[in-house]
Formats: sequence, structure tokens, C-alpha cells
Amino acid sequence: MNENHSDNQYGRARVQDTPELEAYYKELESLGAGALWTVANAIEPWEPRTTSIPMLWKYEDLRSLVLKSSELVTPEQAGRRVVYLVNDKRKEVSAAVGWLYTGIQVTRPGESTSAHRHRASALRFIMEGEGGYTVVDGNKIMLEVNDFVITPNSAWHEHGVEEGGKTCIWQDGLDIPLLNALEANDYAVLDGKQELIAPINYSPIAYGCAGLIPADKNWDKPYSPLFKYSWKSVYPALLEMQKVSEINSFDGIFMKYSNPLTGGHVMETMGASMQLLPAGFKGKAHQHTGSFVYQCAKGKGYSIIDGKRFDWKERDIFCVPSWAIHEHHNASETENACLFSFNDLPVMEKLGLYQERACIDNNGHQ
Ligand code: FE2
Ligand code: FE2
Repeated sequence: MNENHSDNQYGRARVQDTPELEAYYKELESLGAGALWTVANAIEPWEPRTTSIPMLWKYEDLRSLVLKSSELVTPEQAGRRVVYLVNDKRKEVSAAVGWLYTGIQVTRPGESTSAHRHRASALRFIMEGEGGYTVVDGNKIMLEVNDFVITPNSAWHEHGVEEGGKTCIWQDGLDIPLLNALEANDYAVLDGKQELIAPINYSPIAYGCAGLIPADKNWDKPYSPLFKYSWKSVYPALLEMQKVSEINSFDGIFMKYSNPLTGGHVMETMGASMQLLPAGFKGKAHQHTGSFVYQCAKGKGYSIIDGKRFDWKERDIFCVPSWAIHEHHNASETENACLFSFNDLPVMEKLGLYQERACIDNNGHQ
């Protein structure tokens, strides 16, 4: 079966305006109605279409402004002291790409946020600092650079940095724009701090070691019981995987953060991955549905997204919109590069909307 992607093809709207039709459209409009053929071509694209553009946010440009926020407002005043990153074409929904939000949060030693929860799921990727912690569902967890943390849909959470620690900066990722689009978001603040229900670091010790999980406990939540994925375990795992695995031609050594009980995504609406681009890696180009926000966790390289080159290094953040053609390259011939990313794939997959296509022109490159 041949597909014809021309708007002149029979079945696509091609009605010429006439005075009679224009009067007819006005009459429909006055009744809260309209003729489908006037909008059909716009609302039914031949292929997935994004309004987002690829963007790169350089950490060296933003870092001093992020730190400055800690002199201008307190966490109590701000609620959350965050500089958010917004896509030039998604400003009206405060999205970094598609329906995903991201921001950079700074917390100084001795500071903490109020305990709160929201229907939007959240995740964090630690960029710098020492002595940072999060408390999720009464579980206090210590955080280090390149650790990945989740605060799922409606889980109470608060964050802070211990006295004697060093100012912490982390990236937040949330599905706020998606939940607002679905008109399903909400927010609540707890009066006071959460009571701890387990010893510090219980979750990563109970669910993140040696493939073991507590045999005498049942976890009935729809998200991962492992709240923190430690870089101390993740990076060695990537290196071991490199020894035994074929390299994915698009994504290098490509690993998903998973719920250890199911092997599925860590949360219901957002997933996350860590990938290692070996020294000299030149990824091939592909496109797929789903929006992606990346942070370079290690090394340097560049990505070509819809024909435009974006050079990134450690801590830079960039986005790949849905269906954008993209390829990732490690710029070093001697050092590995690592890219953290989060995405809306759980939503795309559950709704049957995921599709992927390799680029075959120009030997697989743009
Ligand atoms: Fe939050
Ligand atoms: Fe991709």
C-alpha cells in the first residue's frame, strides 16, 4: 500500500472560499460550531508534529544566575527556589519541551523546603554540592552528584542540605505541563515536616542492592520503591555493560532506570535513562515520538537535532522534541561521555503512541 502525503490527494480538504461559504462559516461560528474541512489539514498532520524547538541551556551561562537566586529569595518565600528552563515555542505552558517542565534548583547548607506534594510526578538529577537530602514518603535519602531521585505522583516530599554541607544544585524534571493540559494537577503543603518512617537511605539499601528486594514486604504503589539511583552504582554498571554488550548504534550503551519490581519505568508518566557514549562514538540518526530532556553527566560531545548542531559538556541541558531527527556524538577520542535523560515515554507507550524510525540517508547521519 502506497501512502500519498500530498494535501492535493483526494480525502484532504481543498475547498476554495466563496462569499456563500464565508457567510456559512460565520453562521456556524455564532452557534459554537465549525466546518471540519477548514481545520482538518492543520489538526491531522501526515506525521507527528511538534511545536517545540531543540534548545541547549549552557550551565556556565546559567550557574551564576542560579546561585544569585539564593541571595534574592529564601526557599520559604519562593516555595521552591528554581530557575526554570523554557522552550522558546512553549512559553505559554512553561515547558522545556513538549509537555515536560525542567528547572535548576539551588539549596544552601542549612536550608530546606517545606514538605509538599503534587499530582505532577517529579524527578531530580544532582549537579553539584554535598550534604543534600530528600525526604520522600517519610524516607530520608542522602544525595550525591549524578544521583537520580524520584518523587512520584502525590508523594509527600521535601529537600534540604545539612548544616556543614556545600550548596547543592540539582535539575528538577516534572510533568506539570502535561497534567495542566489534562486538567488534572493539584498541590498541597504539609503543616510542618514529614515524620521519618524508616532509617536514612532505607529505600536505596532495601531495593537497590544486588538484585535483592525485601521478601517479607509487599509494595502496592504504582511507582518504583527505589527512590534513588546512585551514580556510584550506575557508572560502574555502564562500564561493565560496555564489556559484554553490543553498542546501540543510536544511543551507545543505553540503560533505563527501572522499577526493580517490574522492570518498567520508574513512574507512571515519566521515564529516565542513562547512556554511555564510548570514546569516539558517532551515533546514527533516528526519530521517534516522545519528548526528551538531557543533561550531560560526564564528558563532552554534540548532538545534531533537526540538522542543527548543539555542543554540550558536563552539566549542560538540552532537549529533543518529539519526532525530531537526532544523533549523539562523543567529541573525545579518549574519554567516555554520559547523558542522563528523562522523557514522557510511559505515557506514549501506554497510549500506543510510540513510533520510531531510523534515518537511512547519508549512511545514517544527517
Ligand atoms: Fe515538589
Ligand atoms: Fe533517540
